[in-house]
Amino acid sequence: MIHQILKMGDAKLLRVAEPVTQFNTPELTELIADMFETMAAANGAGLAAPQIGVNLQLVIFGFKSNPRYPDAPTVPETVLLNPVLTPLSEDMDEAWEGCLSVPGLRGLVPRWSKLRYEGVDQFGQPISREVDGFHARVVQHECDHLNGVLYPMRIRDLTQFGYTEVLFPEMDPNEDD
Ligand code: NI
Repeated sequence: MIHQILKMGDAKLLRVAEPVTQFNTPELTELIADMFETMAAANGAGLAAPQIGVNLQLVIFGFKSNPRYPDAPTVPETVLLNPVLTPLSEDMDEAWEGCLSVPGLRGLVPRWSKLRYEGVDQFGQPISREVDGFHARVVQHECDHLNGVLYPMRIRDLTQFGYTEVLFPEMDPNEDD
């Protein structure tokens, strides 16, 4: 089932999410299926459970190609619960981000260049990966949602924040972000 995605201004997006304690349950399986369906319908690169009003430490991300980020490399389809992020260097990168909860806008956001993320999948099996580039950026963006942080809160220079159609007029206007 496709869920409504909450938009910035909704207090539910500002909560700290609770850890998932039960794995491989029918409820969790259904929730994750709904999240993938909701993400695909919105052409998202990732989605966090709080964005559909579910206050759990659960994010999904990954795609082969994404019309909202045509130049982004492939990121493996991932279900990540109870994540812990550890930067692997002090280097930061700035790049443009959007968010399904902040439709129509993009901003230039600093993120750790390289990090390790750990957590478990929907079966409770451990995940541990070292990533950089767009993969690292997506993980940081999604995990921020679990701490009530939306990307505009991380923009350093608010002159680098604006409407997608103005900043990137070459992008397909039929994209819903
Ligand atoms: Ni987002």
